[in-house]
Amino acid sequence: MKFICFTLLIICRITDSRAEQYEVVGAVDPVFAVAGEDVILPCLVEPNINVVDMRVEWFRLNLEDSQVHLYDDHVDKNTDQSQSYRKRTKLNHQELQRGNASLKLSSVQVFDEGLYKCFIQSKSWSDDATVNVSVEAVGRPPVITVDGFDHSGGLHLQCESEGWYPEPVLEWLNSEGVSLSSETTETHRNSDRFSVKHTITVHHRDDKIHCRVKLRHHELETLIITTSKRFSSWRTLIILISVFAVLSVIAGILIAVFAQKYRVLVLVNGSSIVFDVRRTATPQL
Ligand SMILES: *[C@@H]1O[C@H](CO)[C@@H](O)[C@H](O)[C@H]1NC(C)=O
Ligand SMILES: *[C@@H]1O[C@H](CO)[C@@H](O)[C@H](O)[C@H]1NC(C)=O
Repeated sequence: MKFICFTLLIICRITDSRAEQYEVVGAVDPVFAVAGEDVILPCLVEPNINVVDMRVEWFRLNLEDSQVHLYDDHVDKNTDQSQSYRKRTKLNHQELQRGNASLKLSSVQVFDEGLYKCFIQSKSWSDDATVNVSVEAVGRPPVITVDGFDHSGGLHLQCESEGWYPEPVLEWLNSEGVSLSSETTETHRNSDRFSVKHTITVHHRDDKIHCRVKLRHHELETLIITTSKRFSSWRTLIILISVFAVLSVIAGILIAVFAQKYRVLVLVNGSSIVFDVRRTATPQL
């Protein structure tokens, strides 16, 4: 009898504590955010129990003064919130009822990149999850400038672009989309943004050169159309041939018209000659 009671007690304890248990789930993969835009940092409770009565705390890992958002006693308590996050965080209280403690972060900055922890505490249980936020800042469209020719007729080009984060990849591509290797490469970091400058020398066969600057999820591209000397002399020749052909056609038409008039004249003369001949011939008959 004692043994049965004891077993029941244990079973009761186990089921009781299981009812209190939940798991907090963040994001396995990094969350990508774009500088200037908004992002949702995911945090879900499984099973999807109501967490309205619980404490929800978002903070940054490996960073002092790291409180990002605090919800406690049914209200947002952001008096100790880090200055960098002032007025930029929002916890949807309706979603809390469905076990969703995802945080909306507005006007993302490069500074926001890093690890965040979502900590959810009930009276008898607590769990947390980590969210890794990666930020991308899209810079200015690349600008290609022509830096002159070298003695062998190669064209020196320079491509520049600024305002990127993280460090972007710059590549030159020919008209077939084949990557061309840069001659010189330069990267500068200005506070949290990168600027890049690459140069290349192109020879006559490539007539369209693209300069592409890219991050993992964004890219910008500029195109320059170069015409080599040989190509332009070919073009001049083609234009000359075309003009010559058009002139020939016009000349042909004019000659034909004149010739027809001339032929009419000849015919008139001819007929007059014939007439004359007839006239002169008639008395002979
Ligand atoms: C959780 O809430 C956020 C808004 O705070 C919403 O964007 C997201 O879709 C919700 N997630 C789920 C799984 O409902
Ligand atoms: C966070 O994500 C980035 C990729 O965007 C990765 O390089 C970095 O190692 C991740 N950090 C952690 C702690 O997982």
